[in-house]
Amino acid sequence: MRRIDFFDTTLRDGEQSAGINLNTAEKLEIARQLERLGASVIEAGFPASSPGDFEAVQRIATTVRNSTVTGLARAVKSDIDTSWDALKGAEQPHLHVFLATSPIHMEYKLKKTPDQVVDIAVEAVKYARSKFPLVQWSAEDAFRSDPAFLVRILNEVIAAGATTVNIPDTVGYASPQEYGALFRFLKENVRGIDRVKLSAHCHDDLGMAVANSIAAIENGADQVEGTINGIGERAGNAALEEIAVALHIRKDFYNLETGIHLNEIKRTSELVSRLTGVMIQPNKAVVGKNAFAHESGIHQDGMLKNPETYEIITPALIGAAKEPLALGKHSGRAAFKDRAITMGFTVSDDQLNEVFAEFKELADKKKEITEDDLFVLFTRQQLEH
Ligand code: KIV
Ligand code: ZN
Repeated sequence: MRRIDFFDTTLRDGEQSAGINLNTAEKLEIARQLERLGASVIEAGFPASSPGDFEAVQRIATTVRNSTVTGLARAVKSDIDTSWDALKGAEQPHLHVFLATSPIHMEYKLKKTPDQVVDIAVEAVKYARSKFPLVQWSAEDAFRSDPAFLVRILNEVIAAGATTVNIPDTVGYASPQEYGALFRFLKENVRGIDRVKLSAHCHDDLGMAVANSIAAIENGADQVEGTINGIGERAGNAALEEIAVALHIRKDFYNLETGIHLNEIKRTSELVSRLTGVMIQPNKAVVGKNAFAHESGIHQDGMLKNPETYEIITPALIGAAKEPLALGKHSGRAAFKDRAITMGFTVSDDQLNEVFAEFKELADKKKEITEDDLFVLFTRQQLEH
């Protein structure tokens, strides 16, 4: 079965979200959980960016054994040397070196010609390979780069020894069809592309990061990069838990293996949310508080008859506890009766009608009906009869 590697950058691109600052102990705790989750690669930080990041990357590199640990470096010798010092204790030292390739980045940010960019990239990859057995090279802003230039620079960095090449949609500008087509084009035109890992890295500015990552997989990507809960610069990165669950739920269609232990997803998501302080929106796919909540009467009735009527993912799949059906103003008699029984009350049909009417009145006034509210309603009803 074809394998897709999951490259987790929660601790690097994720930590680049405005307002997040993790210390070494917190980063280590997250890295250990990512290892349990089954991430193939964990990007632990950017060692040359600060002494704190250096220390965290070093600790993670010497602690994590079942995932490859990497760190980010600019295409300069000093970053590569610092990264080597941080990563040399890893099981399989891996470096992630990047350089921008789009016209706008080359002209305004790097102030380099395309020829100079090719030379810098090749030199950086060669130098990195003189130390690291595994080197990933990323073409920053690849999606807005000239495809012919991408082919040229990828040919060169692969010849220089890159073991993975990454094609980021740095500003989240791609649509799934276009991003997929770029991967197909590179697969068909880059020399030696089948000898290296081809990676996708998507940002969510237009809300398409997960769809774009899946389009890349459909068109030959061997690795997808992203973060837990989709945290990251601006609107964030592709949410890895969503990609993993999508590939699993539609395995009839994709038939892929990922190495992700899906039942660790909930725990990982909650840990990342707690330590970063970034709340998860209630309706977030897979890990949101409401991802398995069914409120309307019609849906609840279907769920009670056969959960598969409205539930394609079970809470157990991601390691979450099964929640009782939510009760609110849209709920129907079937869910209400089911909850009465679960709470240990025996109610006749007439009693149910009476208390259900009271429940509806209360539900019109309150956003959420709690277990305590129900207890009061049912108990009062039983006392009155
Ligand atoms: O989005 C991006 O281009 C990046 C690179 C550093 C890989 O995060
Ligand atoms: Zn990124």
